[in-house]
Amino acid sequence: MTNWIAIFVVELAVIAFMIWIVWSVAIGAPWVPTSKSKVLTMLKFANVGEGDTLYDLGSGDGRIIIMAAKEFGAKAVGIEADPIRQMWSRLMIRRHKLRDHVKVLRGNFFNFDIGDASVVTLYLGVSANNKLREKLFKELKPGTRIVSHHFLLRDWEIAEHDEKADLYLYVI
Ligand SMILES: C[S@@+](CC[C@H](N)C(=O)[O-])C[C@H]1O[C@@H](n2cnc3c(N)ncnc32)[C@H](O)[C@@H]1O
Repeated sequence: MTNWIAIFVVELAVIAFMIWIVWSVAIGAPWVPTSKSKVLTMLKFANVGEGDTLYDLGSGDGRIIIMAAKEFGAKAVGIEADPIRQMWSRLMIRRHKLRDHVKVLRGNFFNFDIGDASVVTLYLGVSANNKLREKLFKELKPGTRIVSHHFLLRDWEIAEHDEKADLYLYVI
């Protein structure tokens, strides 16, 4: 009997995990975190500094927003659809005592105004980037830098390309 309960619990966990993966892909991009060394490269590439307000669209576990505030003195906002990762990043923000500088909003980034950003970071996918172009162009101020990890913003002029790090910089 105990064996059956254990099998049932494991099956349930596997199904829940699969639903979570499919959902992640459906909303725009699954969670594949940028390595911490690449986050550092990304933030240097975008020339992030104290006067900046950085938005990470699809902020995952919050590593980009935390590093932007901690190492570069920027204000940072993450938007994340996954409640588990959003909760985790809130814990990390608290642990690093960054609550005055970093916040993470839960939901679909298409539903939030990002007009006060001076830097936007992306690590999403082809289709999410394609859909985002209109929003970025409409809401962001001239001069705002966008760094995209791996994925292009189709038909946009690339300001800089770091081939080794696989990063693209765009300026509105
Ligand atoms: C590839 S991960 C990148 C995470 C983080 N930016 C990094 O570079 O480590 C993409 C993240 O975007 C989130 N995401 C995808 N589409 C989203 C949407 N429409 N609104 C909010 N979050 C989204 C996913 O849940 C996932 O955590």
